Amino acid sequence: MKWEENYSLLKNNTFGIDASCRYFFEYSSVDELFSFCADRGDLLPGALHIGGGSNLLFVNGYYDGLVVHSALKGIERVGETDDFVFVKAMSGVVWDEFVAYAVSEGLCGVENLSLIPGEVGAVPVQNIGAYGVEAKDVIDSVELFDVAGCRVLNVNADECGFAYRNSRFKSDWKGKFWVVSVTFRLKKKAEFVLDYGNIKSSMEGREVTLQSVRDTIIRIREEKLPSPEVLGSAGSFFMNPVVSADCLSSLKERFGDVPSYKLSETDFKVPAGWLIEQCGWKGKSYKRAGVYEKQALILVNRGGATGAEVAELADVIVKDVKGKFGIDISPEVCYIK
Ligand code: EPU
Repeated sequence: MKWEENYSLLKNNTFGIDASCRYFFEYSSVDELFSFCADRGDLLPGALHIGGGSNLLFVNGYYDGLVVHSALKGIERVGETDDFVFVKAMSGVVWDEFVAYAVSEGLCGVENLSLIPGEVGAVPVQNIGAYGVEAKDVIDSVELFDVAGCRVLNVNADECGFAYRNSRFKSDWKGKFWVVSVTFRLKKKAEFVLDYGNIKSSMEGREVTLQSVRDTIIRIREEKLPSPEVLGSAGSFFMNPVVSADCLSSLKERFGDVPSYKLSETDFKVPAGWLIEQCGWKGKSYKRAGVYEKQALILVNRGGATGAEVAELADVIVKDVKGKFGIDISPEVCYIK
């Protein structure tokens, strides 16, 4: 167990924002969590539970309350059918270590989610996704800590309200439940998802295996996305907006070949990175923040940026995209105020 007062969160957010909090509590077992709640229940309302801090923006320099972090570790097989293996991972496990475990065990389903920063506890909250796969495709159930009731319970994936980078953990369950563990349903027989972007072409000449897909995804991510140790960021800063077929065709009339992904007959996703690049923001700086040179969807900390500077930059970008295209884009990063 770790308990600190006036604690620096610099190492707890991949943006590298120099924020701090009044209290910090980290638990290494569920029993420690129970004892803490019994002793310091007064601090729980308004407490902020964080994971690897890879999707957070501390807008103010100080969080005047309790920040909680899980150091629960462990991965275990908890069940099996003819087709699937069920694997439970504790919330404090580093996500990519879980992906490496699944691949090494010959279990399929998460290899496209290789190298996404963060910890298992954030996976259902954010419904993380990349290269044609989303966490909701492989989550079977989630074990939760009920903060007010001080008890542990299980919910099935279909109760979690999963949507694109969204879940009930970000709306009506926010602050009420903390993730203790996630049970994943992984396939024994590999079924690869290789249709996104340049994955197939990047794999040309290589045998398609769980490991080679993982290696390819890691290579693509390393080329396109900044490593938090080198340049602070929170991955994609904005979600890709969904527009109607009519909106997309009028965009194409005005701006030529606008990239898009078809979601249904009526809905299309337009890459926010493209919209931002067209507004001239790619590679530009604003105070000590900026837009990444290789991927306009990523805002970066060029050194010493405050959360407020990043938020100001995001506001200007939102206004510019709205002004040029008439499209609203909104952050996927969680603002902590
Ligand atoms: N594009 C540009 N300019 C840019 C960036 C992108 O024109 O600077 C256009 C290109 O047409 C490109 C397309 O956008 O083909 C898509 O770009 P990319 O494949 O990099 O994906 P994305 O839509 O920008 C999403 C996720 C990423 C995920 C990738 C791959 C969101 C918000 N982001 O990005 O997730 O890794 O797809 O699946 O959906 C994250 O959530 O933090 C994240 C990195």
